[in-house]
Amino acid sequence: MLHNQLTKPGLLFTPLILALCLLSFDSFSAGPPTIETLLERSYLDDYHSNVVFGYRIVTETETYGARYSGNHLRCTNCHLNAGRKPDAIPLNVAGMYPKWRSKNGRRNGIGLRIRECFVYSLDGIMPPEDSPEVLAVAAYISYISHGETIGEAPAGRGVPTLPDTGYDPNPANGKAIYDKNCTHCHGNNGQGIPGVPSLWGMDAYNKGAGMANTSKAAGFIWANMPLGQERSLTHQDAFDVAAYINMQIRPGDPRKSKLLKLFEAITGLAD
Ligand code: HEC
Ligand code: HEC
Repeated sequence: MLHNQLTKPGLLFTPLILALCLLSFDSFSAGPPTIETLLERSYLDDYHSNVVFGYRIVTETETYGARYSGNHLRCTNCHLNAGRKPDAIPLNVAGMYPKWRSKNGRRNGIGLRIRECFVYSLDGIMPPEDSPEVLAVAAYISYISHGETIGEAPAGRGVPTLPDTGYDPNPANGKAIYDKNCTHCHGNNGQGIPGVPSLWGMDAYNKGAGMANTSKAAGFIWANMPLGQERSLTHQDAFDVAAYINMQIRPGDPRKSKLLKLFEAITGLAD
């Protein structure tokens, strides 16, 4: 009986047709090639070669973005998983620009937003608008934004906004939290160790950076740190440790530097 059924041509072909359907459905629904595939290709078209260069800048900023970096941080140290992790300031935000920003009082294209992270988070200098680095990171950002809706924030944009705990951040408790949960990776003095970025000192983000905002740092830390045990701190502990970190010494806000203002006036960068 069983034998008879299996030899019927219809029944034999059904799994085959099903498999073919699945295969072709897969190739129709597949998105752009993955970054891993692109990295293996020796020849890339113009767009994808920019995407790969942008990925390199985001993941190895100290090498590929060195011209404009002032410290050894990488974009991916804060934009985790090369900008692909929700609640860790994901970079799949191409469809959200241009956008008004009160920080500089004008509409910002994605290019200016990238350039500003070089100035503040990387404590570096403003890359020119049409520098190969800015164009490449912009291409990478549009590549990872594939599938998002233009004008709608992607899931987990930025960092979570923690609810008000009713208590002021307490840096003394922050130090205790830091010593217990963070020193073995970020070091006793926030200086980092190979593979772990510094949190303060002259090789860290400067006072004008987004992370220097204690509420933003608290949201980032709560959702992502200690690495591997994210969301284990209480909201209050995250506020406290963020306040402690942001009290430590770090490079100043470049907007407050008279020398930089003079330089901008001469070069016309401050338009
Ligand atoms: C020290 C941490 C840190 C580093 C390093 C860093 N950024 Fe950022 N970045 C931030 C923070 C914080 C924000 C603001 C998030 C917010 O406002 O919610 C941000 C925002 C952005 C945005 C806008 C995101 C959005 O949702 O609109 C872009 C684009 C960006 N960064 C690009 C970069 C690039 C490119 C690099 C590397 C050259 C870089 N960042 C390095 C912390 C960092
Ligand atoms: C297991 C090691 C580990 C522990 C523990 C850890 N971190 Fe991190 N942290 C990292 C690594 C690695 C990165 C960069 C992530 C990447 O590049 O993918 C990072 C990134 C960060 C950043 C953003 C980058 C920068 O330099 O500003 C902050 C802020 C941060 N950690 C704070 C903390 C705090 C606060 C604690 C303790 C509550 C903590 N971390 C515990 C490994 C750790």
